[in-house]
Amino acid sequence: MAVTSRGLEGIVAAETKLSDVRGQEGKLIYCGYDIDELAGQVCYEEVVHLLWHGRLPNARELDFLKAELRHERELPHGLVDFLRACPKDAHPMDVLRTCVSMLGLYDSGELGEDALDVNRRRALSITSKIGVIAAYFHRARQGQPLPPIRHDLDEAAHFLYLMTGETPGPEAVRTLDMAYVLHADHSFNASTFTARVSISTLTDMYSAVSAAIGSLKGPLHGGANEGVIRMLKEIGSLERVDSYIAEQLAMKRKIMGIGHRVYKVLDPRAPHLKRMAVKLTQELGEPKWIQMSERIAEIMLREKNLHANVDFYSATVYYSLGIPLDYFTPIFAIARTAGWTAHVLEQLADNRLFRPSSDYVGLPAGKKVVPLPER
Ligand SMILES: CC(C)(COP(=O)(O)OP(=O)(O)OC[C@H]1O[C@@H](n2cnc3c(N)ncnc32)[C@H](O)[C@@H]1OP(=O)(O)O)[C@@H](O)C(=O)NCCC(=O)NCCS
Repeated sequence: MAVTSRGLEGIVAAETKLSDVRGQEGKLIYCGYDIDELAGQVCYEEVVHLLWHGRLPNARELDFLKAELRHERELPHGLVDFLRACPKDAHPMDVLRTCVSMLGLYDSGELGEDALDVNRRRALSITSKIGVIAAYFHRARQGQPLPPIRHDLDEAAHFLYLMTGETPGPEAVRTLDMAYVLHADHSFNASTFTARVSISTLTDMYSAVSAAIGSLKGPLHGGANEGVIRMLKEIGSLERVDSYIAEQLAMKRKIMGIGHRVYKVLDPRAPHLKRMAVKLTQELGEPKWIQMSERIAEIMLREKNLHANVDFYSATVYYSLGIPLDYFTPIFAIARTAGWTAHVLEQLADNRLFRPSSDYVGLPAGKKVVPLPER
C-alpha cells in the first residue's frame, strides 16, 4: 500500500555518496569526513574538490582547482549590463536566481548535454561566478564602480574584496571561508532536492541550480538567517528577549533559526558558528547580539525542546563581518553551489526521473460537464 508522508519526512528518495545528516546523533558527514574534522582544517576549495571528486585534493590538485575557479570569474558583458540595470531594491536572491539562469544563455554548448566533462565545466563556471554576481549587484545597487576581477584571491577573500572594493583582512577571510565549509552540502535538504528533481528530467545544470536558489530563498530554509538578524534587531535588547519570544510562541509564530526536520539534537554546524560569533562580537565590543541569541536558544530548548540550526548563529557572524542583511542568504547560496552542482552530477551519473504519487482527496470521479450557458 502507498505511504503518504507529509513533507516527505522519513522518505529515502535516492542514494548519495556526498553527505550524510544523522539527525539523532547530530552529525554531518561530507564524503566520510565528519564536519568537526573538516571545520578549521580544510578550506572551502578543498571541500569543493571533495564533493566533486569524492576525495580531498593533494596540494597540486588544490592549486589546480583554485586556478580553474579563478580563471572562470569574468562575467559575460550582457550579465554585467543586466546587473547595472537591475532594480536597486531587488532582493539579491532573486538577482542570483535570475543571473544563474542567464548564464545558461551564454553557454555555447548544447544545454541538455549530459556528458560528465561538459557538466563539470558548468559546475566550475557557476561556482566561480555566483559570488561575483552577488557582489557586483551589491556594488551596482549602491551606484559604486564594479571592482576588477582579481586572480590572486581565494573564493571567500575574493567575494569580500568585490563587496567592499578593498582587500579583506585575514580574520574576515578565515571566518567566511569556514562558513562556506559549513554550508557546502547537507544531503537532501529542500534546495538540493529541488536541484535533483529538476535535473532528473534531464534539463540543464543552470535550470537545476536556479531552481535550487529559488528554493533556498524561502524563510523555512536558507532565508531563515536573514529572518534571525531581523528578529534580533526587532527585539533590540537582552531585556526584551523573554517577552518577545513568549509573545511569538503565544501567537504560534515560528522563531527563525530554531528547529530542524532531521536534527533532533543540536545541529553540528551551530557550535562552530557560535564560537565564531562569540569571538567576533567580543572583538567588536557588541556582545548583545550573541547574548540575545543564547537566551533565545535557551528558552526554545526549555519551552519547545527545539535546538538552534545553522542559520541561528551564522546571522550574528555575517552581521559582525559587516555583510548587508539581505546578503546572508546569498552567502549560503554561494557556498551551497558546491553541493548543488555535486548533487546534479551525481544524479546525472545514475538518473531516474523523480515522480512521486499523490493521494487524491478531490471530488469523486464521474462528474459530467454542464454546458457553459447552463453553469
Ligand atoms: C526547520 C523547520 C521548517 C522544520 O519543520 P518541520 O520538521 O516541518 O516541523 P514543523 O514545522 O512541523 O514543527 C513541529 C512542531 O514544532 C514547532 N516548531 C518547529 N520549529 C519551530 C520554531 N522555529 N519556532 C517555534 N515553533 C517551532 C511547530 O510549531 C510544531 O509545533 P506543533 O506540533 O505544536 O504544531 C521548522 O523547525 C522551522 O520552521 N524553523 C524555523 C525556520 C528555520 O530556521 N529554518 C531553517 C532550517 S535549517
